[in-house]
Amino acid sequence: MSDHYAVVGYPIAHSKSPLIHRLFAEQTGQDITYEAILIDSDEEPFAAAIHQLRQMGYKGLNVTLPYKLDAFELAQTHTERAQIAQAVNTLIFHDDGTIEGDNTDGAGLVMDIRDLAGFPIAGQRILIIGAGGAVQGVLKSLLDEQPASIRIANRTAARAVALAKRFQQEAIPISGGDFSALSELPAFDLIINGTSASLQGKVPPIPPSVLHPHSLVYDMMYAPTPTPFMQWAQQHQPDCTVRDGLGMLVGQAAESFWRWRHIRPNVADVLHQVRRYITSSG
Ligand code: ATR
Repeated sequence: MSDHYAVVGYPIAHSKSPLIHRLFAEQTGQDITYEAILIDSDEEPFAAAIHQLRQMGYKGLNVTLPYKLDAFELAQTHTERAQIAQAVNTLIFHDDGTIEGDNTDGAGLVMDIRDLAGFPIAGQRILIIGAGGAVQGVLKSLLDEQPASIRIANRTAARAVALAKRFQQEAIPISGGDFSALSELPAFDLIINGTSASLQGKVPPIPPSVLHPHSLVYDMMYAPTPTPFMQWAQQHQPDCTVRDGLGMLVGQAAESFWRWRHIRPNVADVLHQVRRYITSSG
């Protein structure tokens, strides 16, 4: 009999996770089902819905907005990376009844930038825009790659400063500030947009001086066409490389799949198929 998995969230209808996991399963010959399940917490508390799915025999779940913090609270044990992110996107239902929480977002981002885009993170000067949950979830994975430095820029400077302080370690300088302070700094090698501005069709007002011709400009959002942030970068620095977050989505899914099935799918192959699907379906 197949093992059952799902992604839960609100809304969930447009999630690409079922497509991605079905492609992984096909590719690796794993006998699983994977669907998208809407949890409306006005009708049923998140924890009750999760326990019900566990009782129905599900082996694990992906958790997306707005439940990553609820999932963190619900899990009885956490991986170190979930503990540091204070958020959970992957639940593992162990046979002894315990629920483990993991966070595979940072691993997905690194997999995409380092392995799929072929851009080395080690030794690079990184600029991260945003200081919310999305950024908090990936900082540890980026630091583990040993960049030269990390600057966090946020609309609300205090959040960036606080986050930088939390992740400060001796070997890698990490600092925070607002957007305007960026004009006093040299250009960056890797620029990652982790704000939710793209969702509103907006671009954070950062100075184009952060770009250089060999920068990789990365938007954690993805879309059938280049996001506003990617368009902004290409207008100001036509030679830079731009990339959206679809590879991060496939990468974090692959890491969840690995946690559940102990098999690593071929991420590049599945990313190619998902990109084709997204481009053709608009
Ligand atoms: P998430 O979990 O998606 O990170 P969040 O914790 O609400 O959500 O954080 C959203 C991030 O996007 C924040 O860094 C926010 O900036 P503030 O801390 O100043 O609120 C940023 N953000 C949202 N809309 C933005 C916009 N239009 N321009 C710039 N930054 C924006």
